[in-house]
Amino acid sequence: MRVLDTKFVRGFIKMADDGFQQGWHERNGGNLSYRLTPHEVDGISSRLSDREDWTPIGTSVPGLAGEYFLVTGSGKYFRNIIVDPEACIAIIEVDSKGENYRIRWGLVEGGVPTSELDTHLMNHEVKKRVTDNKHRVIYHAHTTNTIALTFLLPLKDEVFTRELWECATECPVVFPEGVGVVGWMVPGGRDIAIATSKLMEQYNVAIWAHHGMFCSGVDFDETFGLMHTVEKSAEILIKILSVSPKRLQSIQPQDFRDLAKDFHVTLPEKFLYEK
Ligand code: 13P
Ligand code: ZN
Repeated sequence: MRVLDTKFVRGFIKMADDGFQQGWHERNGGNLSYRLTPHEVDGISSRLSDREDWTPIGTSVPGLAGEYFLVTGSGKYFRNIIVDPEACIAIIEVDSKGENYRIRWGLVEGGVPTSELDTHLMNHEVKKRVTDNKHRVIYHAHTTNTIALTFLLPLKDEVFTRELWECATECPVVFPEGVGVVGWMVPGGRDIAIATSKLMEQYNVAIWAHHGMFCSGVDFDETFGLMHTVEKSAEILIKILSVSPKRLQSIQPQDFRDLAKDFHVTLPEKFLYEK
């Protein structure tokens, strides 16, 4: 089967374009990766090239040995993915030690996988383990309002989670485990990958101060929907803060406990502090 005709590639391209339409991907901002199922790899194996050399990942991900990923290319623009996917995205294979990768398809005009490959793969490794192989999508976007909040709120998981929960009733149902925050770090390397993947042990959202957001999910819809929900709530909070620093009313800790009961979610008490 032609790689571009597969359901997972089409879903990947649609999600990238949805993100661009939201305004989250200026220039080459953001990156996306998807872990293929063995069945999907079998379906395209005759279309994969094995001419490329192995390249060090820059970190070690033994839990992903032999896995295949569809990833965006470094420096490639999300707005071009829908127009010329073969030039903007690639399928890579991770070696048997989880230390090197090689390109098996795509990036036909040259290039390398995203500069955030360390973070994507370390997040995938954690999520594969803690979700019992269910999560397959890692998404990084430059979400405007969430970035703006990292200049206004203390960079603490408890504060960001509570503020985002309060600004849209759906939030504690969509991300009951909360969100993690990484203070400003140099992007594109192992240190920020370690810090982010540590948060992914307990959260599906990691906010990078003054930079953007990472989300994890089982499929494209769920992962995009999570990013969209967090960013929408951040937009509401930015609007509130823009009008007045004072709120007349909001959702209270006991309201969240009542909601948790009816919606069958567990909301950690550490987020339900008295203000
Ligand atoms: P890449 O073009 O290398 O994916 O980098 C974009 C980005 O958002 C870095 O954080
Ligand atoms: Zn970025």
